[in-house]
Amino acid sequence: MPAVRFQQVEKTYTGARGTFRALAGVSFDIQRGEFFGLLGPNGAGKTTLISVLAGLTRATAGQVTVMGHDVQSDAAAARMSLGIVPQELVFDPFFSVRDALRIQSGYFGVKNNDAWIDELLQELGLADKANANMRQLSGGMKRRVLVAQALVHRPPVIVLDEPTAGVDVELRQTLWAFIARLNREGHTVLLTTHYLEEAEALCHRIGMLRKGELVALDRTANLLSASASTMLRFKTDQALPATLAAQARITGRIVQLKAKDAPDVEHLLAVLREAGVRIEDLEIGRADLEDVFVEIMNGGRPSAAPAQPQAVPA
Ligand SMILES: Nc1ncnc2c1ncn2[C@@H]1O[C@H](COP(=O)(O)OP(=O)(O)OP(=O)(O)O)[C@@H](O)[C@H]1O
Ligand SMILES: [Mg+2]
Repeated sequence: MPAVRFQQVEKTYTGARGTFRALAGVSFDIQRGEFFGLLGPNGAGKTTLISVLAGLTRATAGQVTVMGHDVQSDAAAARMSLGIVPQELVFDPFFSVRDALRIQSGYFGVKNNDAWIDELLQELGLADKANANMRQLSGGMKRRVLVAQALVHRPPVIVLDEPTAGVDVELRQTLWAFIARLNREGHTVLLTTHYLEEAEALCHRIGMLRKGELVALDRTANLLSASASTMLRFKTDQALPATLAAQARITGRIVQLKAKDAPDVEHLLAVLREAGVRIEDLEIGRADLEDVFVEIMNGGRPSAAPAQPQAVPA
């Protein structure tokens, strides 16, 4: 039995301005003990899929199970198996951090949970804020509390929807060390993030959503090695020749160009030299997950694994 199974999940939102299909039949499994990354641009349907998993939104069609429990017909058991860190910061301003965690424990029927609550506070760097009111916390600290709240009942499946948005470097490192430990101890993790280097470092497998469809699903290593291309990275203040501009990924002064092989690298550099483009800090490296992501989202990778349920052990 997989930890999570999505089968032909569809979600159509109906509003005053008509209908919108946020999920167009998504199917995949997350194995027990897996660290799974769900990636996709804004509006791809990641949070919608997580809302369906959490039982917060009802799928228009399809089936979702968590640890074998159907999220609709066996909702309480499914919910008990899940710890969800929501994308939106939602909290009750009147409670202290510790009270919020105790209340959450009570909600899940967990008694005498103070030792675990203390450990969570410690691990997430909240020990000195335990008695602070929720409204006295900074944004990043509130997010830490949301992570702690999701974990109070030691759920077998941990779902993190953009847990590091607006979080400082130190907490990111602490958070990932802690989540990686829980994963090693057997917890299954489902993560969405726009920080692709985090996904690359942490996730065993990655699924990519685009416009409500699963357009890639594979082991992280396979996604990276399938993109055997070389990347040319450099900085410049000048405009690129039109032929290169069309294929470049440009972030401020940083330009990234894909090259097939060494002669292609030489060719690109020659085109730049002929166009009189002065470049600095030239690096030649392998494609990373961000390159793979951009390629897949642009529809440039027909070989991407098709959207079908598959059972790959972690
Ligand atoms: N309650 C709703 N009613 C109508 N449309 C909705 C609703 N919730 C989400 N949508 C739409 O569904 C699509 C998917 O949204 P979703 O929040 O799942 O995206 P996402 O992949 O989580 O994006 P992000 O990376 O920005 O968090 C979007 O086009 C969004 O506008
Ligand atoms: Mg989202």
